[in-house]
Amino acid sequence: MSTPKVLIIGAGGQLGQELAPALARQFGQEQLVLSDLKPLGSVYAEELLDVTDKAALAAVVQKHRITHIYHLAALLSATGEKNPGLAWQINMQGLLNVLDVCVEAKIERLFWPSSIAVFGPTTPRHNTPQRTIIEPATIYGITKQAGEHLCDWYFRKHGLDVRSLRYPGLISWKAEPGGGTTDYAVHIFFEALRHNAYTCFLGAGSALPMMYMPDAVRATLELMAAPAEKLSIRTSYNLSALSFTPAELAATLQKLLPDFRMDYAPDFRQAIADSWPASIDDSEARKDWGWQPEWSLDAMVQDMLTNIRQKLQVA
Ligand code: SER
Repeated sequence: MSTPKVLIIGAGGQLGQELAPALARQFGQEQLVLSDLKPLGSVYAEELLDVTDKAALAAVVQKHRITHIYHLAALLSATGEKNPGLAWQINMQGLLNVLDVCVEAKIERLFWPSSIAVFGPTTPRHNTPQRTIIEPATIYGITKQAGEHLCDWYFRKHGLDVRSLRYPGLISWKAEPGGGTTDYAVHIFFEALRHNAYTCFLGAGSALPMMYMPDAVRATLELMAAPAEKLSIRTSYNLSALSFTPAELAATLQKLLPDFRMDYAPDFRQAIADSWPASIDDSEARKDWGWQPEWSLDAMVQDMLTNIRQKLQVA
């Protein structure tokens, strides 16, 4: 197999901005093409691309002789509830276009992210198993559930080597997330360093599955590097690292910033959080391709503060 030529779709997002340098380290900077709706001003080759335009996508894939695609463009849970039509269009039509182009252009490997949002209020909340009741309550979750089965269908019907992870809430400092229900766990750090206080849009006791970005990037690279015969799941793998409540995150922050104050003003996102699991059983990922998280809550909080201090240039 020659060196992969990789296209990241939605490269300007929270995950794309961190996957790009990791993939460049793995395959070489010249092997990477980033696409998004807006120019990114990156050091990599870039294409402006709206993933709902299939012809434009096919042209980019052909122009750069792409062999591997990471399709990350989507509307997240909170934004999706406010704009269901657009969420359906981007999340479903976008994925369908990518899957079809992958088959037509004989793409060797596709990564597409799913989410804990596939689960719903009838799912067992603790240690949620891989195979369980899946009745999502949000448009975002509905598109992820349908998307998982579409991926599995393209694998079985067309032999497309598509791989997927059900990410927990992702915590990172380089690029902020946009429009998610787990975003509080990122905003809290910026507000703690700017104002020593944060008003959380979820209640104190809302436990959710979470993961620090270095673990998420490594999980993605490891899944994509795994031999195909090791993978028994072509819908999407449960993936787990941390589980904590806003109050637990605040208490961990207070160990390092004793004056930090947290208030709570739950809004419409509380109902979304209430419909999701508190913790995830990822034993299939561990068994099939050796997944193991590395970052603890304490280590993550310390690393986030160090990096955001530098970013904001505060003492
Ligand atoms: N972090 C996402 C959200 O909150 C879940 O995939 O929408």
